[in-house]
Amino acid sequence: MKNSSKLLQNAGFTKYPITTNDVFMSDVIVANWFNNLDIAAALEDYDLLDKKYFMDLFNPFLELISENVDLQATAYILYQILFEQDVFKKVVLRRDEIDMLPVFVLLSGHKKHIQNMTARGFDGEQINLHKKSVGDQCLLGIKKYKIKGATISRLLWARNYINACVIQIGNLQYKLGKDEPEYRNIGINSNYTVSIHIPYGGRFDDASVGESLCKAKVAIKKYFSEVDDDTPFVCDSWLLDEDLGKYLSPDGNISKFRNRFQFIKSNDDSKILKHVFNNLPKDVDFHLLPEDTSLRREIKRALIKGVKFYDGIGLLKPDNLTCI
Ligand SMILES: CC(C)(COP(=O)(O)OP(=O)(O)OC[C@H]1O[C@@H](n2cnc3c(N)ncnc32)[C@H](O)[C@@H]1OP(=O)(O)O)[C@@H](O)C(=O)NCCC(=O)NCCS
Repeated sequence: MKNSSKLLQNAGFTKYPITTNDVFMSDVIVANWFNNLDIAAALEDYDLLDKKYFMDLFNPFLELISENVDLQATAYILYQILFEQDVFKKVVLRRDEIDMLPVFVLLSGHKKHIQNMTARGFDGEQINLHKKSVGDQCLLGIKKYKIKGATISRLLWARNYINACVIQIGNLQYKLGKDEPEYRNIGINSNYTVSIHIPYGGRFDDASVGESLCKAKVAIKKYFSEVDDDTPFVCDSWLLDEDLGKYLSPDGNISKFRNRFQFIKSNDDSKILKHVFNNLPKDVDFHLLPEDTSLRREIKRALIKGVKFYDGIGLLKPDNLTCI
């Protein structure tokens, strides 16, 4: 019998759910789970096999975990708490180490992903979009942040695909949430919420955003019977920083997106460095930040002056959900 907390600590986790101790685990259970995984099928389905820069990092990790029972047990615990518990339950995980463990855990959820999408009745288009999104999450750290693996925050977001809580309509993604205290605490008193997410690399012009939003309710209700006409649509993002408007052209896409929301509350941190400068480390020298877009120039100048940014939470104005 292995001790879950000890294993997670040894793998560099500094925060994990206390319920981790309830994960029942013996060497036989872990070995059965590990030996029954079809990682090759996951790599193929998520279109990763021909990404050499990815496979060059993933293959050595696969060799390592194949021979390391403690690492297998660690992946098993993460699989259990992310994909076998209540899909809406919030999971807190923190780990500063960067390697391929989060990617491996994500791929271990492949079979579950297909089962969950089938159970929700996803059509071929949603299934293909989902597979692409999971693949993108596996590659993002290496491509965008130039790290040798994935962060735990990637795994936590990608968990929503495996658990089939997200759908994509046009270029926006919509995640079903249940009983989320961060929304309840600010007066959004609904059992379910739909949160809006903007994936990397898609079109974000006002017309595309408007088209996605106005189709959203019907499309979401098709797959998520939990949603009704009163379900609030929310967004928690650096794009909704209360003061960001000062640094934006009013005609830009971000300004138009912001106008669709009623600002509710600021968070106490900001992901602006990450999303605008692709910068993960916290102790960055602001003078060295790039200036190749108008937003980067404005934000850089503000950061140097000591301005603080805070992600904002907004409530979508309901008229956005009606097609004209
Ligand atoms: C959301 C997003 C598509 C908006 O980009 P956009 O459509 O170009 O937005 P705007 O029209 O308002 O851009 C105005 C200016 O800011 C720049 N800009 C916008 N987002 C930027 C970003 N993330 N990084 C650097 N510059 C950015 C644009 O290039 C443009 O610069 P220019 O005037 O020199 O041409 C873009 O920020 C993006 O891809 N973000 C990644 C996904 C994301 O942030 N999701 C939300 C997670 S909470």
